[in-house]
Amino acid sequence: MIKPAAVESGYTGAILHMITENGFRISALKQLQMTRKDAETFYLVHKDRPFYSDLVKFMSSGPIVAAVLEKENAVEEYRKLIGSTDPEKALDGTIRKLFAKSVQQNAVHGSDSDENAAIEAAFFFAERERF
Ligand code: CMP
Repeated sequence: MIKPAAVESGYTGAILHMITENGFRISALKQLQMTRKDAETFYLVHKDRPFYSDLVKFMSSGPIVAAVLEKENAVEEYRKLIGSTDPEKALDGTIRKLFAKSVQQNAVHGSDSDENAAIEAAFFFAERERF
């Protein structure tokens, strides 16, 4: 998912380009604005964290771009490409180093396991939107 601040800043094309240049296949793609309820549900695992309510507010503040990516070992490979959650700790050349504004506005989200990737893909896409 490309987060609202990165979409608003016009980074969508550059981020998708980095993703495909790094060997990922985009099997589903759309731009949408999450409702508060969508964002609450998407980030439910963080509901007890102090940043949850701000995160929900930010993630529903404007359009995001959701995508399903395919590659051998995709979860780990994508996490390498995006870099650390905190952009100050992200390595040079990573998506977050290049495009993030802060820990919260860190340009992109990535699934942390194959199991969560399947849940998150189903959250955004119907079967007929996946190729
Ligand atoms: P993301 O990959 O979308 O997964 C959970 C999000 O919570 C994370 O990126 C950050 O945007 C946000 N997050 C994690 N830790 C913090 C923190 N300490 N302060 C604010 N936001 C955070």
